[in-house]
Amino acid sequence: MSTPKQFDVVVIGAGPGGYIAAIRAAQLGFSVACIDEWANAKGGPAPGGTCTNVGCIPSKALLQSSEHFEHAGHAFKDHGIDVAGLSLNLPQMLKRKDVVVKQNNDGILFLLKKNKVAFFHGRGAFGAAVEGGYTINASGPTTDTLQTKHVIVATGSNARELPGAPFDEKLILSNTGALTIEGVPAKLGVIGAGVIGLEMGSVWRRLGAEVTVLEGLPTFLGAVDEQIAKEAFKLFTKQGLGINLGVKIGKVTPGKKDVTVEYTDAKGEAVKAVFDKLIISIGRTPNTNGLNAEAVGLKLDERGFIAVDDDCKTSLANVWAVGDVVRGPMLAHKAEEEGVAVAERIAGQHGHTNFNTIPWVIYTSPEIAWVGQTEQQLKASSVSYKSGTFPFMANGRARALGDTSGMVKFLADATTDEILGVHIIGPMASELISEAVVAMEFRASAEDIARICHAHPSLSEATKEAALAIDKRSLNF
Ligand code: FAD
Ligand code: NAI
Repeated sequence: MSTPKQFDVVVIGAGPGGYIAAIRAAQLGFSVACIDEWANAKGGPAPGGTCTNVGCIPSKALLQSSEHFEHAGHAFKDHGIDVAGLSLNLPQMLKRKDVVVKQNNDGILFLLKKNKVAFFHGRGAFGAAVEGGYTINASGPTTDTLQTKHVIVATGSNARELPGAPFDEKLILSNTGALTIEGVPAKLGVIGAGVIGLEMGSVWRRLGAEVTVLEGLPTFLGAVDEQIAKEAFKLFTKQGLGINLGVKIGKVTPGKKDVTVEYTDAKGEAVKAVFDKLIISIGRTPNTNGLNAEAVGLKLDERGFIAVDDDCKTSLANVWAVGDVVRGPMLAHKAEEEGVAVAERIAGQHGHTNFNTIPWVIYTSPEIAWVGQTEQQLKASSVSYKSGTFPFMANGRARALGDTSGMVKFLADATTDEILGVHIIGPMASELISEAVVAMEFRASAEDIARICHAHPSLSEATKEAALAIDKRSLNF
């Protein structure tokens, strides 16, 4: 056997958790290797993980393209722009999405190289615990044995299958198939009204599909502030998304060209629905496949996540795990924050991830974004709070944009005025939420935001006005 290649840190997985951890560790002076097995259509390396290849990036590319299509067909007219002969070129839309993905893959390869991270294309698996660390086998186009003191596992997650309805990516689609449907399905079924269901359902509805979403829970977007979720339900159903809550899915039967879903609706009535395609988006499961965790005794928790403490330390000395493969929200920016924090801890610094200020965004139209506590959480924990809302309808920039749906909502401590949560449904909520995140990181009060000068006309004035509304002193509503 050849002598193992020596590194200070080996990262398994080059999704947002892994590649960012590798870069930060390299910046801190360590010799770093990063192993990732994702392959593009030509078999070449495609770092970036779920996020870049079949998640955040391609879904946002299609959300943008489909929104342009919808605007060209509907909203442009109101702006005095008449479009004649509008038609959809779906192959071009999908091709553009693939180009965007490739640009991101290439960008990550460039960044790894720039930071002198040794990249291995293939599967990384634990070999053995050895004196001073671990051996890791990287097997792909080439087979290498690496030896390292520290290991960071960032192997991500996979789509959860519905029992009895395995993904075939032709009729029964995971997020992977949902991003590559070659013709707009006349009838699209979606099981699960979570983030993927709503984002991908929106894409295909905008492109012309009749979309029926089947959700098991009786409530819509349970993790979202109730007032915002109620508004979202109203707006999405008005757009034409058919959202059915409280259903119980029965048999799913794929045919030659369509798929039949038998379910019981909220009233208890049996329904048989036939769809041209079915997306199943009922959550994701941690991925530890092929990691050979058993070889070193790496502990998983009862749900299959790698067990970690608050600092992302696993059950083994100098083995760390970050991102979707560990507890906490399955979000790219959460994975990145953990990756940076772990690299800094390895360097003896005090890396930190603040779970209370991780923003969430759902990229529907309007977008939904929030940070901190919801009103229902504050009620449940008996915190006394004040609430202030401001509708985009009363915001000049939103009127100029022609996008006035939704609101900004502030929740602040009744005594100290500290901001406890900010919830937005409306245009560019994904960008607006950053101000709230910064404010909460600095433990700002609602009054702080209310007194800061915001540019006019801008959507961010709605944020200031919602902060003013905490004390019932909105100026424009
Ligand atoms: P991953 O991105 O899953 O990366 C893990 C990598 O490890 C993969 O490349 C995998 O091939 C590799 N790997 C696994 N095992 C091995 C092994 N043994 N050897 C070598 N390589 C291995 N999050 C957001 O924040 N914003 C969004 O807008 C958003 N949109 C999403 C849309 C969709 C459709 C989906 C499915 C997810 C979305 N997410 C979004 C979630 C986001 O993609 C994940 O939270 C994020 O990718 C997790 O990063 P990670 O590094 O932990 O894992
Ligand atoms: P999700 O957890 O967001 O939603 C799953 C939904 O399916 C829930 O509403 C759940 O009640 C429902 N469900 C579960 N089992 C069911 C069943 N048997 N029948 C009917 N309904 C059922 O999961 P989703 O949408 O698959 O996304 C996975 C994760 O990916 C998200 O939680 C999020 O972390 C990440 N993601 C983030 C995005 C973003 O940040 N914008 C976009 C897309 C995904």
